[in-house]
Amino acid sequence: MTTVYLNGEYMTKEEARISPDDRGFLLSDGVYEVTPAYDGRLFRFPQHLERLERGLATLRIHQGTGELADVHERLLRENDLESAACAYVYVQITRGAAPRMHQFPEGSVTPTVYAFAKAFSRPPHEEWELGSGAITVPDRRWSRVDIKTISLLPNVLAQQAAADAGVANAVFVKDGNAIEGTHNNLFAVFDGVVTTHPATHEILHGITRAVVLELAGRMGISVEQRAIPVEEFRTADEIFFTGTTTEVHPTVSLDGQRVGDGTAGPVTRRLFEAFVEEVGSRRAAEAQG
Ligand SMILES: Cc1ncc(COP(=O)(O)O)c(C=O)c1O
Repeated sequence: MTTVYLNGEYMTKEEARISPDDRGFLLSDGVYEVTPAYDGRLFRFPQHLERLERGLATLRIHQGTGELADVHERLLRENDLESAACAYVYVQITRGAAPRMHQFPEGSVTPTVYAFAKAFSRPPHEEWELGSGAITVPDRRWSRVDIKTISLLPNVLAQQAAADAGVANAVFVKDGNAIEGTHNNLFAVFDGVVTTHPATHEILHGITRAVVLELAGRMGISVEQRAIPVEEFRTADEIFFTGTTTEVHPTVSLDGQRVGDGTAGPVTRRLFEAFVEEVGSRRAAEAQG
């Protein structure tokens, strides 16, 4: 039985009811956030909360976030995820239910706050090392993808294109540059330099991306944040994605062409090991072998 949180109350998922007038349902008028928990401990929660608050403020959705830390902890507890190696808590806040019109509803409308928790798994080491493939796709999203809105149709279509091609990920190409994935950030390694698109309005400012940049800095690995033309990207020694459930994931082929030697590269490996150490999940590390 799954316990979820909806508008101040905890209930089974089956009991949760959201109005058909909800502006999230009708207009994608809302934001979401996903925070990982390792061995039941939330990882970088303040950063996730700050990104959520920034999104709410930008969209002028007036909803406090003071209760969310407790909601996250309680959902992990109630769903027996306190001892899970890897889990995450998803929270979504929409502008609320109101008769359908494009502009903000008149008067005060209470936002809808929905949250659930779920386990995720890290692949066994031998599988991780093999990595996976990716394709490039045109970026057909709007120009403020730094806001984590629930409006994800271009991401859905791009990820489906990857699935149709039999690969795990898609790389968005915008203005000729390889910028990020459908649900993860993108890195390339050129001659030992870890390179990624800068944190502009064109990408989501991933918390995992920030952690990886921090780790690279600590490890003395050179980092460059700059636009990467897709033709240059194709020549990278290593490519990897980062994200909350993606963690650090190697890409070994791009549009059917091998990347590097076709397995996880040395810099990707070092950063993944450092990431595993940083999140500090004993159970996840044991499970991975
Ligand atoms: C488009 C996009 N880029 C990057 C990320 C990675 O962000 P984070 O590391 O905070 O999970 C996500 C996560 O959902 C995403 O949707």
